[in-house]
Amino acid sequence: MNDNEENIYNNENIGNSNSNSSSNGNDSNNGDNAVNKAKLKFHIITFGCQMNVADSEMIAGTLMKMGYEKTGSKAEADLVLINTCAVRAKPEAKVYSHLGDLVKLRDIKPSLMIGICGCVAQKERENIIKQFPYVDLVFGPQSIGELPRLIALADKAIAKKLIKLSQMKKQDGVKSDLKMKRKFKGARVYGDFESSGDNLPEKDVSRESDFKAYITIMRGCNNFCSYCVVPYTRGREKSRPFDVIVKEAEELVRSGYKEITLLGQNVNSYHGDGGETFADLLERIDSIEGHFYIRFMTSHPKDLSERLIDVMAFARHIAPHVHLPFQSGSTRILELMNRRYSREHYIDLIEKIKSRIKNVTLTTDVITGFPQETEDDFNDTVSLLNYVKYDSAFLFFYSEREGTAALSIDGAVPLKTRLARLERLVQLQMEITFDINRSMKGEIHEGIVEGIAPKSEKELSIRTYDNHVVIAKAPDGTKNYTGEFVKVKITQGFNFVLKGEIL
Ligand code: SAH
Ligand code: SF4
Ligand code: F3S
Repeated sequence: MNDNEENIYNNENIGNSNSNSSSNGNDSNNGDNAVNKAKLKFHIITFGCQMNVADSEMIAGTLMKMGYEKTGSKAEADLVLINTCAVRAKPEAKVYSHLGDLVKLRDIKPSLMIGICGCVAQKERENIIKQFPYVDLVFGPQSIGELPRLIALADKAIAKKLIKLSQMKKQDGVKSDLKMKRKFKGARVYGDFESSGDNLPEKDVSRESDFKAYITIMRGCNNFCSYCVVPYTRGREKSRPFDVIVKEAEELVRSGYKEITLLGQNVNSYHGDGGETFADLLERIDSIEGHFYIRFMTSHPKDLSERLIDVMAFARHIAPHVHLPFQSGSTRILELMNRRYSREHYIDLIEKIKSRIKNVTLTTDVITGFPQETEDDFNDTVSLLNYVKYDSAFLFFYSEREGTAALSIDGAVPLKTRLARLERLVQLQMEITFDINRSMKGEIHEGIVEGIAPKSEKELSIRTYDNHVVIAKAPDGTKNYTGEFVKVKITQGFNFVLKGEIL
């Protein structure tokens, strides 16, 4: 993951509006069979990893092709979709609270279509249907291609409901009250949960940003780390064709995108249709002419090759940053996690990366309190975190996930201990990040302005080539710098952030 839990798991993605004017035939939604000339609007709420964000962009593109228009407001929307994440209990719980809010919106607007998609939809479809009978659409990440058909079916069911509601209103001679509205269940239209995901609308992407873009290079995961739900929600690993990805990257650079992030749960096991490796793919995209950055995630330590390190070492566009989750510093726990590398292998890899890629920055993911983790095992994690000196780390306490192999490992660590260990790591990482940030004072970096800095309207947030975030005053307060390359001098390092001055 390239973000902290609060950020990524709170990620309400709101789209831009579009100019497509075709109709989706959803006009009966007003319940009176009158022709609704206004365009229907959709709103997508996205949780989870960048792959979910990329999927939401594909869903948005599909809906816009159908004639829908994006809206940033739930209340304005005719269709609200929640794209969910099941990786830990916390993001999953947030989905349910959002669903609770949506039912209130539907009390006001009976024609509202509510859909739930993504990893929780795939994993919890039966529970969703039982607990939230008013949900209209449920579909998993592999069945996004079915969306037009699913929406058409839901449309029909909603139209019927609305006609019934208006008849009931007439019979009663009163306005439709809450009880009457809540009598109606959702349309209950489901995607194919067994779908192999071969028919995804990969060309219909409506990107959130006009300067940074995601390209999903592979889907699914075959690794079955014993704590992880992803192989169950996203299915088996599948790489997209080499030439298709290269063409997408070329088009993005041509149309002015300045940052391309290649996405996969384990990008290092990418297999092109002509036998190409991930290193080959990176090297090819690196050869595209232009001024742009290439990022990628996530790398699995068992598959990160020496050739990849060499490609990065001699790259022109590949950001010198590696996100390399280690999860635990204890080889015994790594075995229980089914990670298939040892502490020694991981350290060896880090040494090679640090010695061959100039000024490389490193980030990682760690889990505390995995079953059977003793104080000694945990101390191995502490020492690894201390040894590598990551620029930042995404730290989680172990969360039991239904259906995963770790559930049958004896020796659960009490929640209190998991949290106490997490807190120790958080403190340690804060000190490490602070030290790194302080040592950067005076350095000059190139980066891209990502937008206005949070909590300050006069400052800009800049992500440097090597993945640090720097806050700096806008040279001209009236100008929009978003998406521009800038040179910034670091003036001060804080716990979480760097302050700088645009040159
Ligand atoms: N494919 C990526 C990670 C995807 S999930 C990889 O292998 O690196 C992102 C992170 O969530 C993981 O790296 C792990 O640290 C964390 N995570 C996954 N399942 C978890 C669980 N059951 N409990 C706590 N953290 C978990
Ligand atoms: Fe989950 Fe492991 Fe696959 Fe990452 S590599 S998605 S942690 S099973
Ligand atoms: Fe979450 Fe699914 Fe991504 S479980 S982390 S949204 S692959």
